[in-house]
Amino acid sequence: MGIKIRGTGSYTPDKVLTNEDLEKMVETNDEWIRTRTGICQRHIAAPEQACSDLAEKAARAALEMAGVAPEELNAIIVATISPDHIFPSTACLLQHRLGATKAFGFDLEAACSGLLFSLETARGLMSVNRKYRYVLVIGSEKLSALVNWEDRNTCVLFGDGASALLLENCPDEEDCFLASDLGVDGNSLDILSLPAGGSRNPASVQTVTDKMHYIHMAGRDVFKLAVNAMVSSCKKVLEEANVSIDQVRWLVPHQANARIMSAVAQRLPLEEERVFINIGKYGNTSAASIGICIDEMVRSGQVQKGDYVLLTAFGGGLTWGAILIKW
Ligand code: COA
Repeated sequence: MGIKIRGTGSYTPDKVLTNEDLEKMVETNDEWIRTRTGICQRHIAAPEQACSDLAEKAARAALEMAGVAPEELNAIIVATISPDHIFPSTACLLQHRLGATKAFGFDLEAACSGLLFSLETARGLMSVNRKYRYVLVIGSEKLSALVNWEDRNTCVLFGDGASALLLENCPDEEDCFLASDLGVDGNSLDILSLPAGGSRNPASVQTVTDKMHYIHMAGRDVFKLAVNAMVSSCKKVLEEANVSIDQVRWLVPHQANARIMSAVAQRLPLEEERVFINIGKYGNTSAASIGICIDEMVRSGQVQKGDYVLLTAFGGGLTWGAILIKW
């Protein structure tokens, strides 16, 4: 059994919000943001653009690269924490928009680890049933809709964007997915969450007044947990696949903070030249970030057949994981 990544795509909205723009909105400055996070700018969706609109553009790019028609898709998985609606799922909306008449689909919520959880889920589907030939895995976020633009602790970090990976079931080829490690710990609600809008705290005048519909985060706690969890997951998958860190061509971490990525690289250890970082351009796009990196790597020719590529992520939940791919 072999599963291959046949196409990649990504999309970020046209509007760019720079650190200098943010200086006019909250008490912050370009130097603080750059040195603490590595972020220089982020892309912001237009008011009329929702998660599915961003997803559609990334999806079409991945399908076009692979030369696969939407009607050939068997399943669509959309990783997101910023769906168009609580229901119907963004995957349903996307199925209709693409004209993916044979596909079923669903949304998967694992915050910034969403793309990795979705890849693992897609692999599972494809492994048990060969009728799933083409599965489209998407990470799409309009985080600008969930950010409190008056809170300098969070608003400087996030951006909007989408990415897509088209997987094909190729029974006669080698599997490109070598090993995976995923985890959750639901005991950390206080450090990273969006408290209202679900059944625990339904929307009310009070929840709006209390700003409970925005991302809440204890940055320092997240930082430490993120580094530990990603390092541990990366080591587990390398061991499972019997691949040494020296053989890894690219570490592709979730783009949350350049300092988090450096700390992970130091502890593996792996030289910074082998860490793919584009956070400067996009900020943290949650479930979309790793796929945006992969699409850039593919389109710029920076990843070659046979390269070992180590993906790792961390996010609210808590959720975390790593997946080792042989390109
Ligand atoms: N501009 C200027 N100052 C800011 C600021 C901003 N945008 N945001 C926070 N500060 C201030 C804080 O208020 C604090 O001031 P104080 O000491 O007077 O209270 C000071 O800067 C230092 O804050 P601290 O939390 O120690 O900074 P830090 O070095 O930990 O960096 C983060 C803050 C948020 C960048 C960092 O903790 C981080 O990236 N954490 C992980 C967040 C993340 O990745 N979340 C998503 C996970 S998927």
